[in-house]
Amino acid sequence: MKLKRTHPCGILRPDHIDQEVVLAGWVLRRRDHGGVIFIDLRDRSGIVQVVFEPTTSPEVHALAHRLRPEYVLAVRGRVRRRPRGMENPKIPTGEIEVEARELEILNASRTPPFPLDEEVSVSEALRLKYRYLDLRRPGGLEPFLLRHRVAQAAREFLNREGFLEVETPFLTKSTPEGARDYLVPSRLYPGKFYALPQSPQLFKQILMVAGVERYYQIVRCFRDEDLRADRQPEFTQLDLEMSFVDEEIIMDLVERLVAHIFREALGVELQLPFPRFSYAEALSRFGTDRPDLRFGMELREVSDLFKDTSFKVFAQVLERGGIIKGLCAPADFSRKELDELTAFVGEFGAKGLAWIKVREEGFQSPIVKFFSREVLERLREIFRPQPGSTLFFVADQPEVVNEALAELRQELARRLGLIPEKEYRFCWILDFPLVEWDEEEGRFVAVHHPFTMPKEEDLPLLEEAPERVRSRAYDLVLNGVEIGGGSIRIHQPELQRRVFHLLRISEEEAREKFGFLLEALEYGAPPHGGLAFGFDRLVMLMGGYRSIREVIAFPKTQRAQCLLTGAPAPVSMEQLLELHLLPGWEKT
Ligand code: AMO
Ligand code: AMP
Repeated sequence: MKLKRTHPCGILRPDHIDQEVVLAGWVLRRRDHGGVIFIDLRDRSGIVQVVFEPTTSPEVHALAHRLRPEYVLAVRGRVRRRPRGMENPKIPTGEIEVEARELEILNASRTPPFPLDEEVSVSEALRLKYRYLDLRRPGGLEPFLLRHRVAQAAREFLNREGFLEVETPFLTKSTPEGARDYLVPSRLYPGKFYALPQSPQLFKQILMVAGVERYYQIVRCFRDEDLRADRQPEFTQLDLEMSFVDEEIIMDLVERLVAHIFREALGVELQLPFPRFSYAEALSRFGTDRPDLRFGMELREVSDLFKDTSFKVFAQVLERGGIIKGLCAPADFSRKELDELTAFVGEFGAKGLAWIKVREEGFQSPIVKFFSREVLERLREIFRPQPGSTLFFVADQPEVVNEALAELRQELARRLGLIPEKEYRFCWILDFPLVEWDEEEGRFVAVHHPFTMPKEEDLPLLEEAPERVRSRAYDLVLNGVEIGGGSIRIHQPELQRRVFHLLRISEEEAREKFGFLLEALEYGAPPHGGLAFGFDRLVMLMGGYRSIREVIAFPKTQRAQCLLTGAPAPVSMEQLLELHLLPGWEKT
């Protein structure tokens, strides 16, 4: 490269007029107008128009004829005002252009498999295979600028608060966060495996025993689980842990951290403190422990109201110990829409969706005939429906009712356009149950993870009524997405043993799996606790992206493949032998 770049393309303004500049970048577009060649030159900073006049230098002009989309070039030229009427108000450099004096073609490019200069919709598979071209498209790098700013702001804040950034191993033993492990076979120890960490949970606790007191890490985690739009097999946590703290100190620090990140990376001022809900209250009012607070339509339980009803569907559900909950949507719906919504809740196990339209003249629905005047009056008091709105009810077991109505609430908000853009509504969810019964495994499993501290006042219930023990865990929810979770940890080995016992993790199994942690707890572990953010999810929500794949440079597909590299891929027989993965074969 002979020419040395002096300016990024995107910063040139009328102030630069008459200056000589050297630019470098990619050809976004080329146009010929009566012998004059126009190039839209793009680098990371933006786009500027470069003009090659046949008169300036015939050789340079001839060379410019060879330029094609995505060729890489350096150009020396003079900034000049665009002729009147030729300005482009759509781009920041639209008042000026660069008259080329010298051109160096740095590299050619094959014709890209999709155009990079316009908002054409390209299949995600093609975009991921050519991710380097996808990222070159307009706005392609924006998620990564944001991601960078978020990481910088987080580090800045935590450094100032006295946190140490410490790295923890990737080749390690299984950490229980509820997913399957990714395993790495050991070459030196036949039949033994490393596990990639599902989180740095155990190491960060041990760092507290080591006296670090305040730890953080922006760290990759690996979980072999079923993927969704907000899940990836490898994802990033902003992970932190503190000693000598309680949940108030941690939640306060996390709120100030989030406020700092939003201020620095988005220029948004958040209102602190964030509202808090107990798990039970969140479930009751929103049907989920991830409530989206950007709109209303809260759920209300109406089981009592219908206990003597002649409507068979409701009566039968109540007889079987089920419940009935409802919500009020501020809109009227056509027959077709009601059918669609019924099918929608069906996906979540609801056997039907009862509806009542609220009209000036009264309630309208095929089922109102089953209800007394008093019941209808009570419905009015509970939901306070405006004329033109619709009441929806689901009757079933509590889990089905809550999930179906929580999803319906979200779906209605989407359909009715009730979700304001660029609004960030956080909340904490507290008082989770410590354990839940796992039907399949026939035992209690940890709701958060097995190292979570039970509430002191619930400790007497640990053996008799474990399902009623609440934990000292907290989740952070933003706009209906769980973006973080954490807890105060158990720091007394005796209590840890009791919890393992409850989870039917045998002494032997505990020693084998987490013996190193249990042992560390015996050597003066301080009280400690922490939290981990789903970093990709946070950036996704901050930038308004639909999927965390948009904010990960090289994401995997829903089927856990990397389309760019082709991973996962077969390996050679040689490697399999070396790793002792071909039983019965010895390497010769
Ligand atoms: P947890 O398992 O809740 O807690 O994870 C913390 C946060 O990580 C995000 N997250 C994910 N993001 C993308 N893809 C995934 N597959 C994925 N799984 C989880 C979520 C979640 O809130 N060690 C504990 C934290 C602690 O107790 O300090 C832990 O990992 O946003
Ligand atoms: P049916 O008597 O089955 O025709 O149902 C009458 C109305 O009740 C229909 O609108 C159904 O969608 C609705 N419905 C049926 N089962 C339930 C249920 N479990 N919860 C709420 N509504 C239901």
